Amino acid sequence: MAPTLSVLRRTVAVLARTVAVFTGLLDPWVFMSVSLSYLPRVLATLILAPTGGGGPSLARIREAWFGAFWREAAGPGIRARNAERVRALLRGRVHAGRALADGAEGGNAPLAGVVLELGAGAGFWVDVFPEVADCGGGGGEAEPGRPRVERIYGVEPNAAHHPALRAAVARAGLADVYDIVPVGIEALRAPSAAAAALDARAGRLRLPPASVDCIVSLLCLCSIPDPERNIRALYDLLRDGGRWYVYEHVRCEYSWYMRAYQRFVNIFWPHFLGGCQLCRPTATYLRAAGGVTGVDAWSRFDLAQPPEEEWWHTVPHVLGVLTK
Ligand SMILES: C[S@@+](CC[C@H](N)C(=O)[O-])C[C@H]1O[C@@H](n2cnc3c(N)ncnc32)[C@H](O)[C@@H]1O
Repeated sequence: MAPTLSVLRRTVAVLARTVAVFTGLLDPWVFMSVSLSYLPRVLATLILAPTGGGGPSLARIREAWFGAFWREAAGPGIRARNAERVRALLRGRVHAGRALADGAEGGNAPLAGVVLELGAGAGFWVDVFPEVADCGGGGGEAEPGRPRVERIYGVEPNAAHHPALRAAVARAGLADVYDIVPVGIEALRAPSAAAAALDARAGRLRLPPASVDCIVSLLCLCSIPDPERNIRALYDLLRDGGRWYVYEHVRCEYSWYMRAYQRFVNIFWPHFLGGCQLCRPTATYLRAAGGVTGVDAWSRFDLAQPPEEEWWHTVPHVLGVLTK
């Protein structure tokens, strides 16, 4: 009886693992199919909408398509599955790719000061800011023991996301603290404080070097243009001691066959996901961001793949806090 039971248990375990592997490998195709299902409705809306003539441009279709898919399908699920992880991240309570238990050693400093949220999308993470910090630059004492966030710049070039992002900011009570910056991060860096002041007078936000305390990037660096150069430009915006809170999906490093499979999926993926790239070595770009040969750009580089992600994840992540 006992040997039969153990064989049965082992068979169930092997079956469960096989299902998990296949689900993991098929996952990106399911994701792309769901995205595709949004295209007919988005196209119909754009074609029927009154415009100045011509029809919608390809860029406009791509923005509206990805916007609808992210707001209605992908974003809410990703938010629900990662809420605890992102809360821990912004509190600095992560180390070596995992959230730390209360009281555990090895954490990082929490979010504070002037914050840049990259690719804020439809605002799925906006309500986490007041949970992890006292948000508001105005007078009054910060709650004892809580960090204070003075200002948040939510950088989001896709105008299709702006109404939802604005609503999320209002719901979180951050209207006085959170500014939506409707450009790509590549347009953000001013060469100097004087240039930034001139821009501000013209009503345009550009930030001078070393003017930002914290950068938050949640699933965004896969979508930006020229990542190596723009990550370096963002590094310049951080002051010394500033921190970059990262939860990003990255190039698969597991084995030749997973790397080949990820490259194959990536032939199709960007067309269905608003230009998102699966195979970016983002951790390498971040590590090298200082750009000074032989000098480490970071005083602490605490970034790793969450250990619960197994080899079959076609979209592996890195999680952590980098301190300049
Ligand atoms: C995968 S979505 C993630 C959105 C959001 N961070 C979230 O987790 O819900 C990637 C976001 O990056 C934005 N993005 C694309 N290009 C960008 C750029 N050049 N600068 C800043 N954000 C960009 C997209 O518009 C999109 O909202």
